[in-house]
Amino acid sequence: MTFTELANKGILTQPVYEPGKPIEQVARELGLDPAGIVKLASNENPFGPSPKAMAAAEKALKEAHLYPDGGYYALRQKLSAKLGLGMDQFVIGDGSNEIIELLGHVFLSPGDECVMHQSSFVVYKLVTLMFGAKPVEVPLVNMRQDLESLLAAITPRTKLVFLASPANPVGATNTAEEIEKFVRALPPHVVLVFDEAYAEFLETPPDLRPLVAEGAKLICLRTFSKIYGLAAMRVGYGYAAKELIALIQRARQPFNVNGIASAAAVAALDDGEFVAKCRAANRVGLKQLGEGFEKLGLEFVPGQGNFLLVKVGDGARVFGALQERGLIVRPVKPYGLPEWVRVTVGSKEQNERFLTTLAEVI
Ligand SMILES: Cc1ncc(COP(=O)(O)O)c(C=O)c1O
Repeated sequence: MTFTELANKGILTQPVYEPGKPIEQVARELGLDPAGIVKLASNENPFGPSPKAMAAAEKALKEAHLYPDGGYYALRQKLSAKLGLGMDQFVIGDGSNEIIELLGHVFLSPGDECVMHQSSFVVYKLVTLMFGAKPVEVPLVNMRQDLESLLAAITPRTKLVFLASPANPVGATNTAEEIEKFVRALPPHVVLVFDEAYAEFLETPPDLRPLVAEGAKLICLRTFSKIYGLAAMRVGYGYAAKELIALIQRARQPFNVNGIASAAAVAALDDGEFVAKCRAANRVGLKQLGEGFEKLGLEFVPGQGNFLLVKVGDGARVFGALQERGLIVRPVKPYGLPEWVRVTVGSKEQNERFLTTLAEVI
């Protein structure tokens, strides 16, 4: 018998996540100098990692021979102080992606349903399918997430509902009022996964902590991969009622986040200056890109994260042409958006180069 014949049936049809291509790979494939390539494909931070985090990581490297504190006490304590929630209301993940998977372990079985928007972050669907559950995808309305349709798609089989604001790859947000009304209308048999991966880029992100305190069935997910510039470290966290966190802790591997990464994350939380600088630069970059698209007569979604979705006609062709010129963006055909590409907000110079090159290729 082959490995394939022995494998669980579900794994044979499980779709595979396609990340933005790394610079080295594009350089190899196209014979380009890696130093001349700009990657605006994965919503990474163009200003690098938080300097405080880097210093802490270097220090923590000296203890690389020891297992980390598997309870991540220092990180949960810092988060608890910063967000005003109990330490037992936080779970730390190997990126927030891992927490999405852990939620699958806790809640999903074959036959269950998970409700999400079309063109939402693909990991919601991948995790749903991995556990044999069924993704129920609700259409966007004018490229916005329509929370009434999301609510209407819930059935007695629904276990998880996924919502991100800002949403990736669309970039659009829902208002705090819309979100609160939505949470209050949720039936008691579903858990909302509210993905705040890009919340720190908003001046005033919706605050769901009062709803958590009231006992709403929800978990909020955050990441150190975006504004803190620690994507390679792989650290994220979730906060929720302690009952839910305790269930997720049962599904988690011991030492799921490495000690270097968790030390970096603790220090990053103290780097308010870096975060403020990145948030302000991102605002300027969003404006720069938006104005550039207007000049080129291109439709775009006025996103609030660190990326924009722009309609270029044939997304695959424009992606390829940009890549040949050393610019990596994200084609979003796999998200059902073949006419669009997603571009991460870069530094001023990177945005300029992107806009000039885009003008050449369209
Ligand atoms: C909406 C959304 N959620 C979660 C993640 C995962 O982030 P992490 O790097 O923490 O796994 C991403 C990453 O791009 C994202 O866009």
